[in-house]
Amino acid sequence: MSFSNHDELEQSLLTCELCQLHKDAIGPTSYNGNVLSPLAIVGEGPGGVEDEYGVPLVGPSGQLLDKALASVGVSRDKIYTTNVIKCRPKNNRTPTIEEGAFCAQNWLDQELSFVRPKIIIALGSVALKYLYRADGRITKDRGQWFDTKYGVAAIATYHPAYLLRLTGKALIKAKWEVFYDLKAAVEKCQALAPDYQFDSVEKPDLLSMYASRRDMRRQN
Ligand code: URA
Repeated sequence: MSFSNHDELEQSLLTCELCQLHKDAIGPTSYNGNVLSPLAIVGEGPGGVEDEYGVPLVGPSGQLLDKALASVGVSRDKIYTTNVIKCRPKNNRTPTIEEGAFCAQNWLDQELSFVRPKIIIALGSVALKYLYRADGRITKDRGQWFDTKYGVAAIATYHPAYLLRLTGKALIKAKWEVFYDLKAAVEKCQALAPDYQFDSVEKPDLLSMYASRRDMRRQN
């Protein structure tokens, strides 16, 4: 399917039944943030809270991401946030490479062709494997710049869900690595879009913003 603009794509995405995954989810989730942002974050796929609200990274991982972004002067409403895979796999299992590629070739690729970010952050292994290469390894490849098929430079970092599982020294080390990866991404993006404002005075409350979508999804 091909769409003439991002809105049209989103309307169609929210009723997607192209694969079986929608059957175990409340429904497909789309994006949040600014469609005109020079900075895009691509996560893995929705968890339980995201499935409820219909938007990416608003649950525990999203809240940790917001804190990490705040530490480098970025607010979620100023960036574009999306996922490789749009439906929550049953029992929150990690999507396979094939599921990710099928979904992303139908949706993410076109989404990003409308957004045209200048820099992409791949959040975690599933995004790294789709955007870089199928044998990419997050522990080895994070923090390294790579080219994407969109002609946009990308950098991968650890997924916040991974940080949420760590403790002690391992957690401190991984948090610093994420900080430096995000800082590198933002600095490169600032150089490419010097007039863009990445921070907001009023931080968005994403759960309130999407409460009506959650209510509609509950009714359906
Ligand atoms: N993890 C992701 O990668 N994306 C989400 O939307 C939620 C959790």
